[in-house]
Amino acid sequence: MRLLGFVMGTSRLRPSLPHASMNRSIDAMSFHQFTGTDDYIASQELRDAVNVAIALEKPLLIRGEPGTGKTVLAEAISADLGMELLTWHIKSTSKASDGLYVYDTVQRLNDARFGDRDITDIRTYIKYGALGRSFRSDQRVVLLIDEIDKADMEFPNDLLHELDRMSFVVDETGETVEARRRPVVIITSNNEKELPDAFLRRCVFHYIAFPDHDLMADIVRVHHPDVEEELMRQVLIQFYWLRDQPEVRKRPSTSELIDWIAALRRAGVTSAKLEEKLPFLGVLLKREQDLESVLGRRARTGRYSSN
Ligand SMILES: Nc1ncnc2c1ncn2[C@@H]1O[C@H](COP(=O)(O)OP(=O)(O)OP(=O)(O)O)[C@@H](O)[C@H]1O
Ligand SMILES: [Mg+2]
Repeated sequence: MRLLGFVMGTSRLRPSLPHASMNRSIDAMSFHQFTGTDDYIASQELRDAVNVAIALEKPLLIRGEPGTGKTVLAEAISADLGMELLTWHIKSTSKASDGLYVYDTVQRLNDARFGDRDITDIRTYIKYGALGRSFRSDQRVVLLIDEIDKADMEFPNDLLHELDRMSFVVDETGETVEARRRPVVIITSNNEKELPDAFLRRCVFHYIAFPDHDLMADIVRVHHPDVEEELMRQVLIQFYWLRDQPEVRKRPSTSELIDWIAALRRAGVTSAKLEEKLPFLGVLLKREQDLESVLGRRARTGRYSSN
């Protein structure tokens, strides 16, 4: 009571206690924006990383083994927050400037020679890329820059300024494009190349750890909601056993597990049959050395796993 009186007495100098706590809970409510979706299971650490990146308005750099849901995360954020998703798939030939805009000189030349269009308005020949469109959008959007490590080393460095300032200049027209609403930027990497320190400094980072048994069962249920419990149990035992084999170099991932279960179910393979034999191994293992070593173990010991 005394504390409340003291705070109220000085309310013009500092916020009173009830207001401060109310603001805190409003802040907390607006912080916990992303919670995953019915189709995408996000661990608490991943949700936190997404929400921190949104709150700080910094790009979120996502790394993780292939098939751990890096790309579909951006779709899930877009669905959960009701924002449009713009995607920029990076290739080895991608240039940072392509994501901003390209000046379609060929079209202009064609129009000059054959068309009856007015070619003096250069703005009609500026084609915005995903990054450029995300800046120009009136609504806040999710921008996915997928597989940034596919491009050359200069690519991330070339984006520093635009990602920092969220603006760029169209040289041909002199126009400055400034983000109307800062997009939620999700950048994925398979770590094929090291990313420059200056780039990393500007991002929030999260590594998607490979899901444990329980999380994986939840992910599988998203894709196979009516899978029989015993089949799920057997499948997970065999899957994690395969991943644990030191001689298996290309370990099967979440997406391969989902495909494997689909194949087993279509073929009517029961959990009992799975204990004797691992069918359709080619869905899980993609290197012949990996297949040979697993089949070799089977020939030597008469079994695959130790269960
Ligand atoms: N947490 C998850 N919840 C639901 N589905 C998931 C999850 N993680 C992965 N999947 C499923 O696994 C598949 C692969 O996901 P995705 O393509 O996003 O992986 P990735 O990490 O981008 O792989 P790559 O590095 O090969 O591009 C998708 O079909 C996706 O639905
Ligand atoms: Mg991907």
